[in-house]
Amino acid sequence: MSTFQTLAGFRDFYPDDCAFRNFIFECFRRSATTFGFEEYDAPILESMELFTAKSGEEIVSQLFNFEDKGGRSVAMRPEMTPSLARMVGVRASTLRRPIKWFSISEMFRYERPQKGRLRSFYQFNADIFGNESSYADAEIILLGIYMLKSFGLTAEDFRVRLSDRQLWTLFIRSHNIGENDVPEVLGIIDKIEREEPSKTVESLDKICRGDGQKIFYDLLEVKTIHSVNDIREFFKKFKNDTFARRIDELAQLLTRVETFGVSDFVTIDFGIVRGLAYYTGFIFEIFERSGQSRALAGGGRYDNLIKRLGYADLPAVGFAIGDVTLGNLLKEKNIVPKLSKNIHCFVVYSTQTETLALRQATMLRGQKINTDYCLDPITFSKQLKMAAQVNAKYAIIFGEEEAKTGHAKVKNMLSTNEIVVEIDRLAEVISR
Ligand code: HAM
Repeated sequence: MSTFQTLAGFRDFYPDDCAFRNFIFECFRRSATTFGFEEYDAPILESMELFTAKSGEEIVSQLFNFEDKGGRSVAMRPEMTPSLARMVGVRASTLRRPIKWFSISEMFRYERPQKGRLRSFYQFNADIFGNESSYADAEIILLGIYMLKSFGLTAEDFRVRLSDRQLWTLFIRSHNIGENDVPEVLGIIDKIEREEPSKTVESLDKICRGDGQKIFYDLLEVKTIHSVNDIREFFKKFKNDTFARRIDELAQLLTRVETFGVSDFVTIDFGIVRGLAYYTGFIFEIFERSGQSRALAGGGRYDNLIKRLGYADLPAVGFAIGDVTLGNLLKEKNIVPKLSKNIHCFVVYSTQTETLALRQATMLRGQKINTDYCLDPITFSKQLKMAAQVNAKYAIIFGEEEAKTGHAKVKNMLSTNEIVVEIDRLAEVISR
């Protein structure tokens, strides 16, 4: 065992791992810019209060926090949303709307490390501010689907599970449960499958004075609903227009999803309640569909957060996808392209041609052509072996004979064809 190891839940990224991570990030970035999102970033370290006030209990219990040398309580960000809300809040009056921003950044959560869950991981976040219609929600869901499809994943591999905090809240309140107790009931719903039924009933009993059993069965019934028609049918008994209006909004969102041709990827699933406190509307999680069935991504609408931070009243919706579960899934499905070192040409030389060859290597690099060479002039055959090892497309061989007449040999490493080229034309020939 080595003396120094990474901390539990943290990763070293060797070049292969970095290449894989960059491949994922490039796909994130390309998808977001294709959809018209602009990139931003924020500090890794924030005041602890930003998260304790806004993120919700679960995340706060997982904070990497400490007191800095100035006695301030600080935390490494467990998520991007509070920092983003601050950034947008500060400039809310000058930013053109809708504001569509994305980021790719490292997060820290003191969770129990396990498959798909680490203490340091990367998240892609995309959020839209300044539009309160469900069309913005649809755009966010569409981006999530587009992104995963662009990795080569299909409807067989993942599913968007769509739910609604508003319908849940209306439903809970219709059982004479006060506003303040709603978050606790949502927490109970979140855990309902993992908890003993008797324990769930007991927790509900405490909140709603003995009605626990009845509410428990009602909650279970809501969780079985998977279509708009069934939702309408179920909520009819409440004879409440607010329910009806909200169900219309859900139908509108689903129509948009259908317009984009991605209905196959989306199912209504009230089992999703989301652990974070700030959500106010439609919420969703994207799950992989293998046996593991882990969340790849999660998000939703959070219309009050910016105002609660003390800024303007600005509607918001967004989501985040992590690199860990996604990376595992791509590897399991074997859909990662070959990520080899990207060397275009490898310069081969001898002690006699060293100066000429290395000046040419510098010239090629100056033209942004990826060029490598052996640091010491070992034998030509060993240098050519190295060229093959780094997957160079061409080897440029500076032999003494050719050099005398201002020429070098260009060897195509794939076809093994060799041609003699004037040194002045090297860049042109290997760029063809
Ligand atoms: P979240 O559901 O907490 O949402 O995280 C989103 C994704 O980040 C998860 O689905 C998972 O892929 C990844 N993730 C979370 N925790 C870990 C972990 N310990 N190890 C590896 N991956 C992890 C949020 O963070 C919200 N702020 C998303 C959002 C953006 N909502 C609106 N805008």
